[in-house]
Amino acid sequence: MERVLRENAFAGETHIVTGAGQGIGNQVAAQLALHGAQVVLVDLDAGRLEEAKAEIAKNAAVAPIVAAANVTDEAQVKAAVATALEAGDHINGIVNVAGVTRDARIVKKAYDDFKFVMAVHLHGTFLFMREAAFQCWHPAFKANENKPLDDGVNRFIVNFSSVSARNGNIGQIDYTAAKGAIESATRTAAREFSGYRVRVNAIAPGPVNTPMLAEVGDEGIAMMGRATLVGRIAEPIEMARTVAAIADPLLFGYTSGQVFAANGGMYIA
Ligand SMILES: NC(=O)c1ccc[n+]([C@@H]2O[C@H](COP(=O)([O-])OP(=O)(O)OC[C@H]3O[C@@H](n4cnc5c(N)ncnc54)[C@H](O)[C@@H]3O)[C@@H](O)[C@H]2O)c1
Repeated sequence: MERVLRENAFAGETHIVTGAGQGIGNQVAAQLALHGAQVVLVDLDAGRLEEAKAEIAKNAAVAPIVAAANVTDEAQVKAAVATALEAGDHINGIVNVAGVTRDARIVKKAYDDFKFVMAVHLHGTFLFMREAAFQCWHPAFKANENKPLDDGVNRFIVNFSSVSARNGNIGQIDYTAAKGAIESATRTAAREFSGYRVRVNAIAPGPVNTPMLAEVGDEGIAMMGRATLVGRIAEPIEMARTVAAIADPLLFGYTSGQVFAANGGMYIA
């Protein structure tokens, strides 16, 4: 696997990645581990996470840790963050990738599906941000006599939005609303966590070649590709490399509260 940052850019750091069992989250975890981080892999299925761990470990200086959790379950999120802290003493980064879709037009959308999609994206993102602050960053801030943590330690959050937060998407009232809310929540967390010196940003991908797109079909995928300026949908590794760049303080140490549009020019704001 090819590095895009300097060797060991994240050495000594602990990064939590949700949705790490497949798709974009899996590639994000692999990229961060490739650059020296100890990654904590979060997803629903422990068995699939063990497979991901074995695969990622092949190119990692530090073996990943598995923390199976449902991101909508408060107790499980608390436990996953505690597991990360036991392993690494500090939480340097969180990448909130876990996601689901339950597409149906508004008129036919089941309320349970709406709540489910909102919960995985928005509530899951909130819970991981809160828990890292509660268990790690806020205690460190207190121990520093409530002064900003100007200790040179890299701290970041990258939340996953989508191009459809701004563009809208038929069948995705829940998904698009959750992604828009994640962008707003990113801005608030960036302000609240500035004293912890945590850079909080979001990435809003266009269409990416993962199982999430499976039901769109070949023609749908081709159409999405034509709607971009680069003429194709993205591969998960491209999103993972962008996340690794955002996580790197040498590249984006002066950037917080922003949404990175990684959509191939599908939407220009
Ligand atoms: N694929 C795309 O075209 C695309 C476009 C824009 C944004 N995104 C966003 O990127 C992120 C990753 O998408 P993907 O395409 O890799 O999806 P995916 O379906 O391939 O993977 C999502 C992962 O999240 C996990 N997950 C779902 N619910 C969970 C829960 N409650 N707790 C823990 N883990 C859970 C799944 O098990 C799965 O491993 C999502 O937030 C998605 O909304 C994807």
